[in-house]
Amino acid sequence: MAPVAMLSTIPATEAPARPGCGGALDYSTPAAVPGAKRADLTDECQSYAYKKLQTLLSDSREILIDNDQGGYTIPAKGLYPYQWNWDSALVAMGWATLDEARAWEEMTKLFSAQWDDGMVSHIVFHKPSTTYFPGPEIWGSVEKPRKSTGITQPPVAAITVRNLFEQAVNKELALTKVRELFPKLLSWHRWFKTARDPENTGLVATLHPWESGMDNSPAWDEPLRNVPVDDIPPYVRADLTHVNSSMRPSQAEYDRFLTLVYRFRAVDYDCNQLYYLSPFRVTDLCTNSVLYRANLSLRWLAELLGELDVLPEIDGWLESTRAAFSSLYDPEAKMFKSKDQLTGKLLNASTSAGFLPLFARIATPTQAQELAGTLERWLSCVKYGIPSNDPESADFEALRYWRGPIWAIVNWMITDGLRAYGFDSLAQRVESDTYELLGSGIYEYYDPTDGKPAGGGSFSWTAAMCLAWLSKAVPSS
Ligand code: DGY
Repeated sequence: MAPVAMLSTIPATEAPARPGCGGALDYSTPAAVPGAKRADLTDECQSYAYKKLQTLLSDSREILIDNDQGGYTIPAKGLYPYQWNWDSALVAMGWATLDEARAWEEMTKLFSAQWDDGMVSHIVFHKPSTTYFPGPEIWGSVEKPRKSTGITQPPVAAITVRNLFEQAVNKELALTKVRELFPKLLSWHRWFKTARDPENTGLVATLHPWESGMDNSPAWDEPLRNVPVDDIPPYVRADLTHVNSSMRPSQAEYDRFLTLVYRFRAVDYDCNQLYYLSPFRVTDLCTNSVLYRANLSLRWLAELLGELDVLPEIDGWLESTRAAFSSLYDPEAKMFKSKDQLTGKLLNASTSAGFLPLFARIATPTQAQELAGTLERWLSCVKYGIPSNDPESADFEALRYWRGPIWAIVNWMITDGLRAYGFDSLAQRVESDTYELLGSGIYEYYDPTDGKPAGGGSFSWTAAMCLAWLSKAVPSS
């Protein structure tokens, strides 16, 4: 999977912003978009666009270097001072554009904390920090083999490893690293199958909103209502000292997040028990889409290494997920939905995770066509895409974390999917929007109504996505 080059988008995006550079493109006419008015742009515009591109690239590189803790990258200073699982996998794709060896190191460091049962934790606490809650003392952190949390996150890593290998200039190093990482990836994916799909449904369970990576998604409102708040020790949130509370999950959500942690800790995170005891158990679209795509990557890596014995096992996973996935489609809403496994009901919320089956290549052509229509409707309601929540829904909040804001990594995944299904002009609209947003700063997320950056600043995975996308646009000499 090659990251999509954005060069054709760039001058067009710049055009409306500069006097004398021509008019704005009309994105409501898809045929007018691809590469549109490039030839008409003046030299001044071209050089302005080129400078902006160079600035974005150097700012992004600086952010990765600044957030580098020696082999792993923290998402953002203060707010997230440890190694996060899917952040790191995405960040490695950014590192690959400036230092391949460093990109591989990011993955090696993440897997150095893999548990004996195969799980890769959502946070690894390599070094102490006082700026984050809940830290290792709350998780009761168990060195298995390093201090880490007892839950996981969407398994991007196999996708990254394939991507790093395909992009690698140093193929010898890449092959050594793929050999080293393949058994660890396989063991993690086996863990998903046994620990999170013990009933063999083809879809894996997510047991904590933090595992979904989309902590306060409106999709979790319903299932979280069924999580009782236990008599947990009083606590002070550290996130609110870094970011305004209007941009973060609510206190009611945090009480439930913590309740789940204490309940899981009480059984020492025994994965054989958690599936049955957790009062929160959902089929998360993001995790299942990413896992399906990651299994495609794992299969590709197995073939690369000649590990043909494992192919029937991986094919079995792929087949059972394909068979089950359409049960997550809501034909009336023309959208995929996450599901509450404890009630068996599809969850009402339409969120940006609903487009991720495109990234997975698991949507049927008809579903893909309908998703593109849904996305067009969303985009017609906002200035910039893609909002993380349906902008027409009552619970849309433009600045609150996963309840409205735009995330560059999600835009990257969805545009990758849109292009795979042939929706190039829609992908280009999102790429142009993303490029414009990044120009206002490399932040955690952005307000879809006016493009204002929000959340944490100097944010690693946003910088990495910027590098992975834009570096393809820089002429090599
Ligand atoms: C946080 O602390 O906000 C993280 O998203 C948890 O993973």
